[in-house]
Amino acid sequence: MSESGWERLWTDVHLATMTDPSMGIVPGGAIAASGDRIAWVGRAADLPAEPERLAGDVIRCGGAWLTPGLIDCHTHIVYGGDRTREFRRRLRGESYADIARAGGGIMSTVRATRGASNEELTAGAAARAAELSAWGVTTIEVKSGYGLDPETELRMLEVAAGLARHVPADISPTLLAAHAVPPEYAHRRRDYVRLIVDEIVPAAREQGHATAVDAFCEDIAFTPEESRAVLEAGIAAGLGGRLHADQLSDFGGGALAASVGARSADHLEHVSPEGVRAMAGAEVCAVLLPGAAYTLGADRRPPVASLRRAGVTMALASDANPGSSPITHVGVILNLACILFGLSPEEALLGFTAAAARVLGLERDRGTLEPGKRADLALWNVADLAELCCRVGASPLKALVKNGDPVRPGLIM
Ligand code: NIG
Ligand code: FE
Repeated sequence: MSESGWERLWTDVHLATMTDPSMGIVPGGAIAASGDRIAWVGRAADLPAEPERLAGDVIRCGGAWLTPGLIDCHTHIVYGGDRTREFRRRLRGESYADIARAGGGIMSTVRATRGASNEELTAGAAARAAELSAWGVTTIEVKSGYGLDPETELRMLEVAAGLARHVPADISPTLLAAHAVPPEYAHRRRDYVRLIVDEIVPAAREQGHATAVDAFCEDIAFTPEESRAVLEAGIAAGLGGRLHADQLSDFGGGALAASVGARSADHLEHVSPEGVRAMAGAEVCAVLLPGAAYTLGADRRPPVASLRRAGVTMALASDANPGSSPITHVGVILNLACILFGLSPEEALLGFTAAAARVLGLERDRGTLEPGKRADLALWNVADLAELCCRVGASPLKALVKNGDPVRPGLIM
């Protein structure tokens, strides 16, 4: 046994602890893990003894950069079918909303998802989760929302939770039964909202996988009143609140998220100044999703400067889904966040770590490098961390650590 009781110690490494707006940089750092927790973080020069006396396993990192494992806090990676035909339609000029109104979009994925077995759904989602893992992602939020009936929504949550057996990542499933009004309820949408509130939310709670509830508040989906009913039911059942807000139009989503005490409002291309103020007042995080803005050719950007000025925590996520953001390349998302949305590399990387942990209600457990936090670590082969945002290419991930143990990124064979 070592003097310190540490199992592993990484040295000759630069740390981005993500504990302040400049990413809490510690050049020439060292970090130790004991069990699944971080035991010590600091400058290598301040280590209490020689590395070999402190830990059984000393890993010298050759001057690489180390961050917390990345957290993708908004994805829809469990789904059946594909939407490539729709991609062609959009290239020919049809809009996302027009395609959705004509029964395509989310509804076409709903049909394919209802018809897919759990094994088929798992195979597709695990492959996508593995692509995120190759980018250092160790926590993935996964939404339902392509079932839109009690059975398939619960099946999606089950498949989502099971992904943790296929990739070295923790999964945070979110109930998104309010993603679209299913065709069988087209003329009685109030009954669908009632079904969500009275049956699907309680069943999801009973099942125990979902940690949050979400709704798509938009004129092609749910009104603010309907979204409020769903969020209030979910929050009353102990789930965290999330909202797809003000993506295609100003629907009062930011203010609604604030008034129900949601953890986040996501998208926000059209959020109003009042929406931003309300979010700041209620400490609602913004989740920025540049992959969707890029894919849909959005003519507006989220008001990043006002969010920043108002002190709203900005998280960043892939929104990986078959239609509006078919992207599992974290480097592309980081790059779009900077170039399309005007985030600094520091904001983008904080958005994929500390801020994302807050969105998932996991900020006391992960998202920064601090003693007591989970030892989920990503080691990067770059001279400057901004390279993760600047260069679009293969993943520069050098090594991945989950719960204190070195793991191979990608599918667990
Ligand atoms: O976050 N905005 C709604 N939901 C997804 C799109 C899902 C889809 O098109 O299948 C989104 O962009
Ligand atoms: Fe989404």
